[in-house]
Amino acid sequence: MTSGQTIPQVRLGATGPVVGVQGLGAMGMSEFYGDTDEAAARDTLDAALEAGVTLIDTADIYGRGANEEFLAPFVAAHRDEITLATKFAVVRTDDPAHRGLRNDPAYIRSAVEGSLRRLGVDVIDLYYMHRRDPSVPLAESIGAMADLVREGKVKHLGLSEVTGEELREAHAVHPIAALQSEWSLFSRDVEQSAVPAAAELGVALVPYSPLGRGFLTGAFTDASKELSETDYRYAHPRFSGDNARRNATLLEPIRSIAAAHGATPAQVALAWVHQRAAVHGLAVIPIPGTRKRSRLLENTAATHLVLTDSELDLLEPIADQVAGSRYADMSSTSAAREK
Ligand SMILES: NC(=O)c1ccc[n+]([C@@H]2O[C@H](COP(=O)([O-])OP(=O)(O)OC[C@H]3O[C@@H](n4cnc5c(N)ncnc54)[C@H](OP(=O)(O)O)[C@@H]3O)[C@@H](O)[C@H]2O)c1
Repeated sequence: MTSGQTIPQVRLGATGPVVGVQGLGAMGMSEFYGDTDEAAARDTLDAALEAGVTLIDTADIYGRGANEEFLAPFVAAHRDEITLATKFAVVRTDDPAHRGLRNDPAYIRSAVEGSLRRLGVDVIDLYYMHRRDPSVPLAESIGAMADLVREGKVKHLGLSEVTGEELREAHAVHPIAALQSEWSLFSRDVEQSAVPAAAELGVALVPYSPLGRGFLTGAFTDASKELSETDYRYAHPRFSGDNARRNATLLEPIRSIAAAHGATPAQVALAWVHQRAAVHGLAVIPIPGTRKRSRLLENTAATHLVLTDSELDLLEPIADQVAGSRYADMSSTSAAREK
């Protein structure tokens, strides 16, 4: 199923701008998911814009700043056509596995300057706190982010991987436009408290890894055999060994539903996110990541796919059967702080 149509538009939360109903995750264009091809990635960005995709997602840690720098020429050429989102809070060191967290106002102030410089812009459209450091009062961090809005460095605020309670607390300090959290057929813990809170507050949900980091598409079935050792997914709890074998069997209903529509598993996974969000009554803008024009077009065509109620019923039990956690270390996820 492909489509030459442009995708529908939606408001990014009650206070946010209008964006294409599907965004583009740029992370893999610089790091994490194997070899990158700059020309193909740039062509994918062009294809995204042609298809009506306007929310472009990056973070200061992707490629240690390289992903923001990579996006800069595209941003310069299309500044008024896109909604540019980036993130702060995760601090890396020489140890590739290490992830520190900083949410304090002084850090936020210096992080935004780095992102503005690397992106070559004077304002960031959507600035997310990538992860919560519970040792810093949330109101203090949101207060510092709100100062950036007042100073014209940032237009809208977002959070990633927070609970419903944290979202409410933050929203009381300054309107939050979007919550970016993992949400897919394989990862549904966000539905416990964050999704209902977002619906209540008028915060848009921006599901990351809506394709289960590629696993839901069937593109690979055992990361430790099919992907390179340097690929982030190589040692992921869900994607290798017994867990991968078991999880691969969960793709069967996705495949059969896709076949019935002349669609692909990736398209079913994306359509599911939209229809699940409609059940909860909130705006949703998934940001599948791809570095290939053909996949971008495949993914955007999914915005026109509608699954039947009986198909949704078949997909309903999948997440509960997934073997392995969605991160090897879950300590900085919202799930770790759910009560
Ligand atoms: N806030 C957070 O903590 C957080 C965490 C992770 C990611 N993110 C953001 O969310 C974005 C998306 O998440 P993600 O990249 O982790 O996972 P994803 O979108 O679920 O999957 C991306 C993977 O799927 C492949 N793919 C994409 N479309 C496909 C298709 N139609 N058929 C087959 N394979 C396909 C991509 O390969 P190719 O690139 O080779 O096409 C890539 O390997 C990221 O780019 C990043 O911006 C945020």
